[in-house]
Amino acid sequence: MLPTELIDLMNKLGVFPCVLGTTDKEGSIHMTFITWVYPVSEKILRFALSSGSKSAKNLQETGKACFMFFSPEKALACYGSVQMVLERIEEVKFPVSVFEMRVDRVENNLFPGATITGIIPFAHTGDLEKMVELDNAVIEAMRSV
Ligand SMILES: Cc1cc2nc3c(=O)[nH]c(=O)nc-3n(C[C@H](O)[C@H](O)[C@H](O)COP(=O)(O)O)c2cc1C
Repeated sequence: MLPTELIDLMNKLGVFPCVLGTTDKEGSIHMTFITWVYPVSEKILRFALSSGSKSAKNLQETGKACFMFFSPEKALACYGSVQMVLERIEEVKFPVSVFEMRVDRVENNLFPGATITGIIPFAHTGDLEKMVELDNAVIEAMRSV
């Protein structure tokens, strides 16, 4: 299950950088980088994707996903089953859908003699005000589904 320290950090930051792995029905794997994730509990994780993305299409096809989360002293692979809980966030100008994962398994990828010292570094570029506005609209939608 998702550790409390990770849940607390995700909630504190609002957006959280992570890697999402999905597969289509032929078993072809797809990886992408996202930041719109919201932990509802230690077993339930919501996240938002551009509706036309390959990841969103794969999830509609197979309903299976894996997240890779990096945070101080943690490298966690979280596997689970996924369903769409909101087809489109009305407040956002382009199509964004909200998905929910039931976490079935969490694997700790740490290795003796090494650790993770932070989260994946990322920054918004361009119009910061608009990006924050977009992030807030998506976060609010993920919280209130
Ligand atoms: C900093 C950053 C944050 C991103 N966050 C998200 C996100 O939360 N949801 C999303 O659908 N795409 C996000 N993207 C874009 C995805 O990485 C990806 O390019 C796009 O959604 C296409 O997804 P696909 O690979 O599944 O087709 C983000 C990209 C960057 C650089």
